Amino acid sequence: MNRAIGVFDSGIGGLTVVKELKRQLPNEDIIYLGDTARVPYGTKSASTVVRFSIENILFLLRHNVKLIVVACNTASSLALKAVRRHFKVPIIGVISPGAKEAARVTKNNRVGIIGTPATIKSRAYELEIKKINPGIKILSYATPLFVPLVEEGWLSDKATLEIAKKYLRPLKQQDIDTLILGCTHYPLLKRLIKKIVGPQVALVDSARQVASDVGDILINRGLLDKFKRVKKTRQIFYVTDEPDNFAKLARKFLGSTINRVRKVQYYV
Ligand code: DGL
Repeated sequence: MNRAIGVFDSGIGGLTVVKELKRQLPNEDIIYLGDTARVPYGTKSASTVVRFSIENILFLLRHNVKLIVVACNTASSLALKAVRRHFKVPIIGVISPGAKEAARVTKNNRVGIIGTPATIKSRAYELEIKKINPGIKILSYATPLFVPLVEEGWLSDKATLEIAKKYLRPLKQQDIDTLILGCTHYPLLKRLIKKIVGPQVALVDSARQVASDVGDILINRGLLDKFKRVKKTRQIFYVTDEPDNFAKLARKFLGSTINRVRKVQYYV
């Protein structure tokens, strides 16, 4: 049997990466873990997020995955270096692909970043962008309430719009032409965010670049599923708490391809 790609996030956000993986690599099997019992990660300390990430990876490795995508900006910012030291399996984060994309897209070299408090505090995006182009001015803001709103499925509610306006108003005055959605939950609010920041600001998230990097790594290591025609793939979704809400939202977002969401029985 072919080995799957393992993907984890604190909750539903990583599905934005899964969607793109399915689009670019339709023959790949995917095993997803949403750590819904412990979401949010974005307000927790680095050592806690490292511990959670190690536990998530150990769970995915029990399913013999061939590569792991840390589909969470918070875990990528705080834990990627540590987990790469621990494990031999290739592990991809979402920060450097998103930084690459933003540096490519900006014309006026003024880039905004929104993310969880932990991601913003880590300055992970800023450091990656400065490596590519030190001339880019970065304006970053933590927008923590977006995560519970997305987990709740309030993607276009009035309350969400009001909160988004309050968060994004200061950014709007900064003449940015690119905004990084620096949390994998946020692309689910893309329409609403676009309405506030306007058409002149390009919204960037890491998903597309991550999926393309995953494809490159699988090719380089001879791990790409070789089927020429699109075959029926295995997609298994696990959560660490009650699956119902996750399943409902996931179906709305990914379509009917999700048949069952399982609750993890033995975590590590
Ligand atoms: N989706 C995550 C991220 O990209 C985590 C959100 C959270 O758990 O706070 O940062």
